[in-house]
Amino acid sequence: MIAYFNDQYLEKDQIRLSPDDRGFLFGDGLYEVIRSYKGRLFLGREHIDRLNYGARHLQLNTTDFSFLETVSRELIQRNNLEDEDATVYLQVTRGAALRSHPFPDADTPLNIYGTAQTFNHTLARKYQDEGAGVITLSDNRWARCDMKTTSLTANVLANQRAKEKGCPEAIFIRDGVMLEGTHSNFMAVMDNTLVTAPLSNYILGGITRNHIVKRCADLGIAVEERPIFEKDAHLCTEMMVTGTTTEVTPVITVNGKPVGDGKPGPIARKLQAALSADIQSLG
Ligand code: PDD
Repeated sequence: MIAYFNDQYLEKDQIRLSPDDRGFLFGDGLYEVIRSYKGRLFLGREHIDRLNYGARHLQLNTTDFSFLETVSRELIQRNNLEDEDATVYLQVTRGAALRSHPFPDADTPLNIYGTAQTFNHTLARKYQDEGAGVITLSDNRWARCDMKTTSLTANVLANQRAKEKGCPEAIFIRDGVMLEGTHSNFMAVMDNTLVTAPLSNYILGGITRNHIVKRCADLGIAVEERPIFEKDAHLCTEMMVTGTTTEVTPVITVNGKPVGDGKPGPIARKLQAALSADIQSLG
């Protein structure tokens, strides 16, 4: 696999990272996962904009990563992924410096890394078709979930708990609100209205979420961005998670209890069809 590392394209195995890298030591970095369908990036610009947003908030010494859109395309080409569905992974850390909490010297070069690899659909498709179970867990993450940082230990632990219960996703609950998953956003249908948590520092502004919220206007689906309380779960006729790798995945059980009739619902199906039309129209 050919990977990008600090201005160079190299065999991934040849890349050497300093053990002083602040991503390695502190999780002091950002990442993005972008889907590429038959060689075309889906909402690539939006992903880079989110990376720039994170970089500004982390006060990195570079806050414009527009060039990574070109790098992403180059990675797809160099790995012969033009005819396949793939994921591009991008990561930026505050660079390498002897371990000390405050920022290193302002001219410390960032470590910038990228890969592109075939997306294995098997499990994602199964859950998209049949629906998936989720568990709920108390949100023990920090209060800046709007930045896509590489510090993902809470997400890792929560997803492992879900896996042990036979579920692909866990939904984080804060103050009784079903906020988002460990690697996806969360939506529900109540009174024929698609409801999802409003953007805040407690959730990631998902590129897929934002696209779907906008798309609902043309689809004639009413949307409300407001909290979904776990105690109201029984009022939801549908639930779903959305994301770059999950796309639109219907949620059919929460902690083992069926959602609605326990099958993927009509709004989830409509959104899946709309998203796949948008992907087809990438050209
Ligand atoms: N995760 N919320 C969290 C916490 C996420 O990590 C993600 C994405 C999302 C969905 O965002 P988007 O639609 O922009 O992919 C929501 C990626 C896919 C990951 O960590 O692998």
